[in-house]
Amino acid sequence: MRFSTNPGDILSDHISTPRGLAIKVIGVEGEMLPNHAGQVTQDFVFNNASTFHSARANDFLKSITLLDRHADDSEAPKQVVSSVAQTAEEGLELVGEKSASLKGFRHPPIHPLGETYYTAVPLRFGEYFGKVHLVPVSSNLTALRGKYVDHPDSWNCVKDSIVTFFQTDTAVWQLRVQLCADLTRMPVEDASVKWDEHLSPSLTIARVTVQPQNAYSNPRRVWVDEQLSFNPWHSLAAHRPLGNLMRARFKAYQASSHSRHSVERRQMVEPRSIEEMPD
Ligand code: HEM
Repeated sequence: MRFSTNPGDILSDHISTPRGLAIKVIGVEGEMLPNHAGQVTQDFVFNNASTFHSARANDFLKSITLLDRHADDSEAPKQVVSSVAQTAEEGLELVGEKSASLKGFRHPPIHPLGETYYTAVPLRFGEYFGKVHLVPVSSNLTALRGKYVDHPDSWNCVKDSIVTFFQTDTAVWQLRVQLCADLTRMPVEDASVKWDEHLSPSLTIARVTVQPQNAYSNPRRVWVDEQLSFNPWHSLAAHRPLGNLMRARFKAYQASSHSRHSVERRQMVEPRSIEEMPD
């Protein structure tokens, strides 16, 4: 599991942004997608919102282009927007291009382990298809729902909140799928529409348990952050990603991952066994 925050520029954790989560299941058997042939991994990539902020890939392109144009701006305006979000979610009028580029920074500094994580866009589920989400169920996780991280003004507060938890605690989540039961009211091509639980209630398909550990040792950080890559197209044919946003991710994740690995001069690794993960 790799917890993250977005957007992709390197910022202090005290600038609070949406939370992401990527899971790599290792040791998977079965027919893989052609781009992933011969591998034994299945990735799931989630955000902490049940819908995606952009309905379609071209909307995402517009917002990411805006963000890119302001990626090198100072941290100060991002910090202002982030702290306003922490006190008055709706209290800020954002006007003009520069302000619009800051919208992604409006997120309360909540603990990432109390959150539910959603693929937000669909994938095949064998003969069916649906959206997958990961729901905290152990009481030590549910107690963190909506709670702020400790020391939200510190540089590493999000990372530290996770590392501190796993020094002592075991965490349990349920993996659930919400199958599509109505193509009109549960659309594939518009990720901004919430799929109603009344139309199709989520089904629990797995339990994920994480034991206490040193979650961010230096060797593990290098392996996970700098050598692995998480990509919804690292997948079994039975879980093929669906829809225009997923198709747009096909080349984008590959290209970004290749460029990260070549800049850092790290070999790209796709594991075959959990034993490869350093302590
Ligand atoms: C057009 C749609 C999208 C594009 C082009 C896109 C692009 C990217 C790229 C280029 C990366 C960096 C990959 C790397 O360097 O390894 C990334 C990471 C990520 N994306 Fe997306 N994305 C899209 C939609 C989504 C959606 C719908 C979600 C979640 C529901 C999402 C969640 C994430 C997360 C959590 C990461 C970090 C993964 C990690 O831990 O390595 N993205 N995205």
